[in-house]
Amino acid sequence: MIYADYVNTAKFIEEKLGRAEVAIVLGSGLGGYEEGLENAKSLAYSEIPNFPVSTVKGHSGKLVSGELFGKRVIMMCGRFHAYEGYELDKVTFPVRVFKLLGVQTLILTNAAGGVNTSYNPGTIMLINDYINFTGKNPLIGANIEEFGPRFPDMSNALDAELREVVKASAKRLKIDIQEGVYCWFNGPTYETPAEVRLARMLGGDAVGMSTVPEIIVGKHAGMKVIGISTITNFAAGLSKGEINHEEVMEVGRRVKADFVRLMDEIVKNI
Ligand code: HPA
Repeated sequence: MIYADYVNTAKFIEEKLGRAEVAIVLGSGLGGYEEGLENAKSLAYSEIPNFPVSTVKGHSGKLVSGELFGKRVIMMCGRFHAYEGYELDKVTFPVRVFKLLGVQTLILTNAAGGVNTSYNPGTIMLINDYINFTGKNPLIGANIEEFGPRFPDMSNALDAELREVVKASAKRLKIDIQEGVYCWFNGPTYETPAEVRLARMLGGDAVGMSTVPEIIVGKHAGMKVIGISTITNFAAGLSKGEINHEEVMEVGRRVKADFVRLMDEIVKNI
């Protein structure tokens, strides 16, 4: 991908959907939030030049943009994962396009396994930091200076000010949320119990297969980034049963009502 690819795609999207100030990536089981957008317009990923096409069940694969509480918001219904075989420049392509569309705030959501044993399935966890267990990084390769520096600082990758907004929003709504460190694994296998013990020992609270590439690329481009996980299951080895995608989706759906209220409150207050 070169800079001109991002510019061309941004132009295409701007003509059809307009610009935006907030972008929200809806993860597994959290689809449907886009229905709250006013004056919504949408584009299927398959119509957008340079966009990959998402292959996971429960990810519908479209961009929807409109107004939410007076703000111009664009949402990704379905994201791209490294385990689907996409290079990370494809996985993160939309994030850089959002930057060119004017987006200043990037809100990333996902489903994750709980590593912290006090985070029961159904817990909403605000990501306050991450650990990259994949050995990959979306910024490997020639740096595109138009987006950001060669060696970006990650000490405030999940924006501290916005995290306070999330916590205050949850408090106002009396929704209990937790905070923690999200550990990125490649997938598509769920982690082994030994990997989960390792993640815990090193300070992780949740494990998952997404989000970190988008955090890195968003922060690199100077956006304010926040991430919110729905803990859908105890990570491997922490409970008796096996982990399966249907359970992940089911718990995601169960939490959705609170999640939607929380997201609304966040969008109002950023
Ligand atoms: N591991 C990785 N990704 C996940 C999990 C998990 O346990 N649950 C939901 N997404």
